[in-house]
This record gives sequence, structure tokens and C-alpha cells, in this order.
Amino acid sequence: MNDKVILPQVNILTSPDWQEYALLDSGEGKKLEQFGKVRLIRPEAEAVWNRKLSETEWNQAAAEFIPTAEENGGHWKKKASFPAEWKVRYKDLMFQLMLSNSKQVGIFPEQACQWDWVRQQLSPIGRSAQVLNLFGYTGGMTIAAAAAGAKVTHLDASKKAIQWAKENQTASGLGSDSIRWMLDDGLKFVQREARRGNRYQGIILDPPKFGRGPKGEVWEFYKSFPELIQACGEILAPDARFLLVTAYAIKASSLTLNNVLAEITAKFGGFVTNGEVCLQDRSGGRLLSMAVYGRWQKERDSLPNLERTMV
Ligand SMILES: C[S@@+](CC[C@H](N)C(=O)[O-])C[C@H]1O[C@@H](n2cnc3c(N)ncnc32)[C@H](O)[C@@H]1O
Repeated sequence: MNDKVILPQVNILTSPDWQEYALLDSGEGKKLEQFGKVRLIRPEAEAVWNRKLSETEWNQAAAEFIPTAEENGGHWKKKASFPAEWKVRYKDLMFQLMLSNSKQVGIFPEQACQWDWVRQQLSPIGRSAQVLNLFGYTGGMTIAAAAAGAKVTHLDASKKAIQWAKENQTASGLGSDSIRWMLDDGLKFVQREARRGNRYQGIILDPPKFGRGPKGEVWEFYKSFPELIQACGEILAPDARFLLVTAYAIKASSLTLNNVLAEITAKFGGFVTNGEVCLQDRSGGRLLSMAVYGRWQKERDSLPNLERTMV
């Protein structure tokens, strides 16, 4: 192999600035987490090692998600005193949490480092930026970008997720005009924006493995993502600053995301990096990989390995 070829690095990102969330321990297929005042146990297939904390610590959990064999199936086993909903703060962002039918509670805490990154990309342009958040769920990214002053278009196929995201907007004290809410299919919307000539300075997408648009449109990552990401390339504005893709629950390497982002952003210059977003447990410092990401940014900053992945 030619030694002049510079290989991209897989970056490991954690979110050390959390005050109100912690991964307390992990192991034996589970994770023990503290979300504000509430301690939870959730299944975690990647935690194939032994737990470090005592049974007494684990027994303090107020609820545990008991999975069934089918994907995302299961139910919560709660202690009598369990709150219907509660809040968790990250810096100036506030999130409303509750137990959902799946093991989710309304935020992906490992995304906090990406919320910070989006805000960092927006800091020089703030109010003049149009940001699109596709598959936005309960709006973690949307709230972060809106708090940085951007005008955000938040899209999701679920009415319930959009309602929850609106509650997070209010809880975070953001004005009602900071976010445009779209109940739509991700791919159809981006294709329509391309035809209309609408452009964005930043795009964020966290597509699931499988999903459905509001009219039953089928989303399958490997079939639909190539078309969607090309369409995203078309709606990046000439002065675009960033594009962030996160992927959960798929087997893709973050290098896959690096390759495609390098392709669609080649005409803009800038930098592409990739890696894994991880939670680090307090009990043993072990890194639990939650998702892969790829991101493109126009401007250089102090991120590790940036020079290695120059487009
Ligand atoms: C993995 S979650 C995104 C998590 C979120 N980005 C975060 O970090 O909080 C996936 C979301 O995609 C939405 N979804 C699934 N299929 C969709 C489609 N075809 N178009 C738009 N949204 C879709 C779901 O309703 C769900 O809210």
C-alpha cells in the first residue's frame, strides 16, 4: 500500500459535560443510568462484561425495561412511586422525560457532544442560519440549534414526537418562532425542498434502521439512505457550514458515512470526520458505543484528527 495515503481515524466522542445524567454502571446486558432524580435500568446488548456496582446500587433503580425477543418489544417494570414525567437539564437546554412504550425516555444522552458541536458550528452565523433536523424525534438537536439562534426546521413522521419536542422547546424557554414543525416523510420533504430551491446552512439527520412516514412511506436505511443523502447534498446552501449524520442500530461502520459525506460535500471543501458516540460508565470508565456518526464542517476547529480527513 502507498504510505502517502492518509487513513481516516475513528474518533470516539463522549459527553463529559452532563451534570444531570450519568451512566452509573454497565454489564451483563444492562445499563444503570441516572436521569436527574430518576434511576433506570435499560437493556444494552453491547454490555457483555461484568457489572462493577453492588446489587444495592442496582436495586435503587425506580424502573427497569424488561425486553421481549422481538426488536424494541418489552415493558417497563416500575416501583409504585414512579413519576409520570420529570425533567433533565443539559447546560441551558431542558428536556421533558417519560417512559415510552419502547425502552426510550425522550433523550439520547450520548448526543450531548453533538448538540455542543452543532452550536459551535453555528456560533459565527447564529441568527442567519437555516438548519434542517430530519428524523428529529423529541428535538434534542432542534432545541440545541434553536438555542444557538438558528431558524430550525424540525421534521418527524410522528405527531407524538413533534408534540414532545414542542414541550422541550417551551421547557428550554425558546420562542415559538424559532422552530418550524413539519410532520412529513424525510425523503419526500428533502426532494421537495430541492425542487423548490430552498437551501440550508446546516443539516442534521439521525435516520432509523426502519421507519414509516406519516402516509406509510417505508424507510429502510440501506435502501433509502443513499437517495436521501444525495438529496441533502442538493439542499446545502453555497455558504453551508455543517452536515451531521448519526446512525443507530445498523451495522454500518462510521467510515461508510465518511465516504458518502466526502462525496457529496467535495464541491464545498472543508473537513469530514467520523466515529462513534459513546457513553462512559462511572464505575469502570468503560466506553459503550451507542451509534456511529459522520460529519462535515466547512471551517477548521480544534477537533482531533481533523487534518487527517481533509477532503
Ligand atoms: C432514532 S429517532 C431520532 C433520534 C433523535 N435524532 C435524537 O437524537 O433525539 C428516529 C425518528 O425518526 C422518525 N421517523 C421514522 N421514519 C421516518 C420517516 N420516513 N420520515 C420522517 N421521520 C421518520 C421516528 O418517528 C423517530 O422519531
